[in-house]
Amino acid sequence: MLRPDDQRLQQFRRLTEVSRALTYAITSEEILRLTTERAAELLETPKSILLLADEEGALSIRASFGLDADVTRRYHEPLTERLIFQLQLLLGVPPDRFLGVPMVVGGEVTGLLAVALPAGATPGSLEHEWLLSAVADQAAVALEKTRLEERGKFRDRLIGIVSHDLRTPIGVILMGTSMLLEEVDQLDAHAIKVLSRIQSSAERASRMIADLLDYTQAHLGGGIHVDRKSGDVHLLVQQVVTDFEAAHPDRDFELVHDGDPHADFDADRMAQVVGNLISNAVQYGDAGTSVRVALRTQDENVLVSVQNRGRVISPEHLLNIFEPMQQLDPHASRNRSVGLGLYIVENIVTAHGGDIAVESTEAEGTTFTIRLPRGSAARR
Ligand SMILES: Nc1ncnc2c1ncn2[C@@H]1O[C@H](COP(=O)(O)OP(=O)(O)OP(=O)(O)O)[C@@H](O)[C@H]1O
Ligand SMILES: [Mg+2]
Repeated sequence: MLRPDDQRLQQFRRLTEVSRALTYAITSEEILRLTTERAAELLETPKSILLLADEEGALSIRASFGLDADVTRRYHEPLTERLIFQLQLLLGVPPDRFLGVPMVVGGEVTGLLAVALPAGATPGSLEHEWLLSAVADQAAVALEKTRLEERGKFRDRLIGIVSHDLRTPIGVILMGTSMLLEEVDQLDAHAIKVLSRIQSSAERASRMIADLLDYTQAHLGGGIHVDRKSGDVHLLVQQVVTDFEAAHPDRDFELVHDGDPHADFDADRMAQVVGNLISNAVQYGDAGTSVRVALRTQDENVLVSVQNRGRVISPEHLLNIFEPMQQLDPHASRNRSVGLGLYIVENIVTAHGGDIAVESTEAEGTTFTIRLPRGSAARR
């Protein structure tokens, strides 16, 4: 016979084991099975049962231990009235040997865990109730965690599928409009205007889809893949700046550089990074101010910074500016922004072994600086 203290210690140990097992469980099925199994073991009883609430709060049996699966299956409909009585019948115990506790997450009841207490157990024992409640709460949290994870994974997969499938039709629209626009002399002014609008909308949709695909790759696919080859960062940045000058004749762009600009990088991806930073500087900088791009070499790195004048980004916002969908302006998403730009930029830069920093002050404006390791170019 164990002394009460030893018995308590043993129970405490077992409870810790249950918590640990629930933490490692991956699927909700596994959590449900473990909970009923371990609750029965912990309370030294042959039978346990677990019910979960649906959206309307109605409970139905989701797992059991020591009970005939066929019997519990019959109780798959929501159980509302006479619930306790039915459960007592199911567990085959009189009321004084029935113990049921709610499963609670964030103050909300998400289910019920019940056991048939062993014959000889003190009716109304607080110790039993405490033990079962501890298991029920652990299970409720573990279930909530997998539910959120499963939902997140489903959402990411959906984004991937949808954006992938949209690429082809949009590619066809883009090809068709540019073919028609090549024969400008055969079109009247109205047709040119409409076609140009179709083209710019399709280009915008195509950019958004590319961003969504990059997001899923960075988030789910283990990071954005980069193919590094040696090249001249200055040449690349110059090309991007020239494109912006053509697209924004009303804005001033300055480009300065110092040091050896050779490094190993993925040219398309780096052009995307610099393009994104300059596009933000144009979009969020004050109209009429210039955008300054500077390149310099520091140790084994090439540093590229993009600076603009305008509204200062608050310190709190700076803390998570590289997280997805962090927009200063609550109406940003209405003006064609998704809020993935900087998240993708950071992912591309880290895939190159580099990093990105940001500073924003009244005096200096906002400056994003990327550090790109020069790789084999540094050893030449
Ligand atoms: N140069 C900048 N100056 C001021 N604020 C900026 C600057 N760059 C980014 N921000 C702020 O950070 C937010 C996030 O930028 P990010 O590029 O990730 O998304 P976005 O520009 O809103 O959307 P997307 O780039 O996907 O079209 C922006 O909405 C803006 O509020
Ligand atoms: Mg942006």
